[in-house]
Amino acid sequence: MGYFDDNAGLLADIFARYPSTPQGKRSALMPLLREVQDAQGYVSDGHMAEIAALIGSTATEVRSVMSFYSTYSTVPTGRYHLQVCATLMCAQAGADELWDEIVELTDVQPGEVSEGGLFSVQKVECLGSCGTAPVIQLNDSGYYENVTRRRCHELIALMKSGVAPTTDHPVPVTVNAGGQQVT
Ligand code: FES
Repeated sequence: MGYFDDNAGLLADIFARYPSTPQGKRSALMPLLREVQDAQGYVSDGHMAEIAALIGSTATEVRSVMSFYSTYSTVPTGRYHLQVCATLMCAQAGADELWDEIVELTDVQPGEVSEGGLFSVQKVECLGSCGTAPVIQLNDSGYYENVTRRRCHELIALMKSGVAPTTDHPVPVTVNAGGQQVT
């Protein structure tokens, strides 16, 4: 049984936003993906095939589109899905060490969900905030920038304590007397 079999009203609502032409149907790809990602936490092979059939495309094409967006996952994710930018500027700013720290603190490997379903981790390409490297994206709630080792520990401790951090209430940055951020 497909995800949208029980969501016929929602499906009709999404398709109603686009022309009822073949091209119009294909335009519904992004909202269909977003719906499944938000509801299931990832988009499985079965979901891709279902969406492809709905819009008159192929699962390969759906997967190809998904690959452009770090907000979509093809495997189950934890309550906190930590995406660590691994591209040049972040790598030069310590993203590799940050990644090792996160894997150790969360006790989870890429493609897995930690015990209790709390964490999943993923390396991603440039998150578009190179000037504030290294950068982490947490779920879809926004970016954490200039993530030092200390901030990383504080952020994960907050999540383990049951508090869901948001970028509106970021983990505080510690600065020294000269106004420089410290680790
Ligand atoms: Fe990491 Fe661009 S290189 S945000």
